[in-house]
Amino acid sequence: MRKIRLGVNIDHVATVRNARGETYPSPLRAALLAEKNGADSVTIHLREDRRHINEFDLKKIIKKLKIPLNLEIASTKEMLKIAYRSRPPFICIVPEKRKEITTEGGLNLDHNKNFLRILIKKLKKNNSRISLFIEPSLKDLEKAKKLDADCVEIHTGKLCNLINKKKSYKNELKRIQKAVQKGNQLGLEVHAGHGLTYNSARILSKIKGIQEFNIGHFLVGESIFEGMPSTIKKFKKILKL
Ligand code: PXP
Repeated sequence: MRKIRLGVNIDHVATVRNARGETYPSPLRAALLAEKNGADSVTIHLREDRRHINEFDLKKIIKKLKIPLNLEIASTKEMLKIAYRSRPPFICIVPEKRKEITTEGGLNLDHNKNFLRILIKKLKKNNSRISLFIEPSLKDLEKAKKLDADCVEIHTGKLCNLINKKKSYKNELKRIQKAVQKGNQLGLEVHAGHGLTYNSARILSKIKGIQEFNIGHFLVGESIFEGMPSTIKKFKKILKL
């Protein structure tokens, strides 16, 4: 059986730093602490507006980190250039809207399809593993396969929202379960991420076939109270990693 992995997203360490225009708290320090405490990869999202990490963070983290760095980027010429140059082991292509608070939904795989195809081809040739952040839609899984992605990351935001609001989440969980099965059948590695808390991670961990969980906002928030080492350990226990 393949090992399930936990990716720790440290964007919000940079958000706190940027709120005061200071040099602390350091995203590099957070990345190395996550590595030391059992993270299997570290995720950072280089946004067009650089509201979280910036290229200097990317350079420092990629140089020092021994576990794989997962770089999230939008499908743009600027990001293709940066990702090509920095050559992170993992890349996740995400949609990006300037005014959104966070990534609101999965990619539209029909939008700018030719550029997306070129970007995937170039970055794969450059030895990066390519993942596409998508909704739990069977059609999108087929499209991701046709685009020759290595992996898909299923957007779990809707599920997490329903769980947080104590609303019925059974249908959304079923939708995710079917998407995971389909992804596995197609030979895609399936990941999950967005909005995960201890509670939603516990519910999602019941689905077999998810190989990687990427968790950020809640994990960084919880680290304020419990510390990052114990927060990571708790997530690993919940996900039975
Ligand atoms: N996965 C992807 C593709 C994302 O864009 C994000 C948010 O940056 C996450 C996972 C992590 O989401 P959260 O910060 O809500 O845990």
